[in-house]
Amino acid sequence: MYSIVSERPSDGQIIENLYADAFGPGRHARTAERLRQNNAPVADLCFVAEEDGALAGSVRFWPIKAGATSGLLLGPLAVQPHRQRNGLGVALMEAGLSRASDQGAAFVLLVGDEPYYRRAGFVHAEAGRFNMPGPVEADRLLVRELSDEGAKAAGVVAVNALVLA
Ligand SMILES: CC(C)(COP(=O)(O)OP(=O)(O)OC[C@H]1O[C@@H](n2cnc3c(N)ncnc32)[C@H](O)[C@@H]1OP(=O)(O)O)[C@@H](O)C(=O)NCCC(=O)NCCS
Repeated sequence: MYSIVSERPSDGQIIENLYADAFGPGRHARTAERLRQNNAPVADLCFVAEEDGALAGSVRFWPIKAGATSGLLLGPLAVQPHRQRNGLGVALMEAGLSRASDQGAAFVLLVGDEPYYRRAGFVHAEAGRFNMPGPVEADRLLVRELSDEGAKAAGVVAVNALVLA
């Protein structure tokens, strides 16, 4: 059985190795990465899955804004290959989404496969609604609205410097 717990500083290197194995060297060139550069994940929205005393998966959320509306970017999400298909990925996302909702987050964006992320309530972002800081395949930009404010979020997507200040 696994458990979902908050990420600890000592998890950092294992998580970096997990991401490197899951996404390869090209991961830093992706458009979503531009929203992680000069940014920092929200500490209490970073979760890891533990199974048999080992780190089995990780998710992080980053402060962004769309137009004037504050929101979050989800990712990376990764689960160790031999621990996959056991519900950890969805459980990690739900832990973060639940706390983000409790904290009043308006919306969560991500770039990924809709057939997977629909399991956590994500839907395709309407064409033209969000202006990302680089190319994104239209059917991979997904959103989950967490409030009425989030339902109206739109415009240029950027790092939310107010949260970092
Ligand atoms: C995607 C990932 C996080 C899923 O983790 P997981 O713990 O296996 O996910 P869950 O157990 O919650 O869900 C597994 C289900 O999702 C499905 N699934 C996984 N990736 C999928 C995808 N890209 N598209 C559609 N379905 C997918 C699995 O086939 C499985 O289906 P089943 O329930 O019918 O057997 C994991 O496969 C992973 O780390 N992949 C490499 C990194 C990655 O691609 N991250 C996502 C970036 S877009």
